[in-house]
Amino acid sequence: MNQQSQFDQENDLTLNLKFKLRNISPLGTAFLDISEESDLSKNGTVIEKIFDGQFENIPILIVRETENKYHAFCSVCPHERKRVRTPIYPEIDLICYAHHCHFSQIDGHVIIGPSKDSLTKYKTFFNSQTKILTITSEDNG
Ligand code: FES
Repeated sequence: MNQQSQFDQENDLTLNLKFKLRNISPLGTAFLDISEESDLSKNGTVIEKIFDGQFENIPILIVRETENKYHAFCSVCPHERKRVRTPIYPEIDLICYAHHCHFSQIDGHVIIGPSKDSLTKYKTFFNSQTKILTITSEDNG
């Protein structure tokens, strides 16, 4: 086992314990300056962010669909509440490696795998002038 995969496994174990029995739909509102996120420079790329004090400090997956369109999901898998990982390559599914469930980058629906439920998707509002992405569980509509 190489060092990276060993790190990933240990990291998964820690996070899996942390996530066990946690809410798959934690509430919160957060703001992200996309101009400072170089890992979101291509369509289909995904990053993971923890917003201090929001969403119960559970990592949020942020997907760039296009330059002005972003999606955000809770990273807790609805199957058995393990961690959904950021894909290594752009434009591939969001994957929970615990039981190999694949979720859509666009709406979080289950593509393959044992989960019956989609990932929790948050509302996103992107201001193309300020480059600020607002992510919220609040229903403002
Ligand atoms: S916990 Fe994610 S597929 Fe089982």
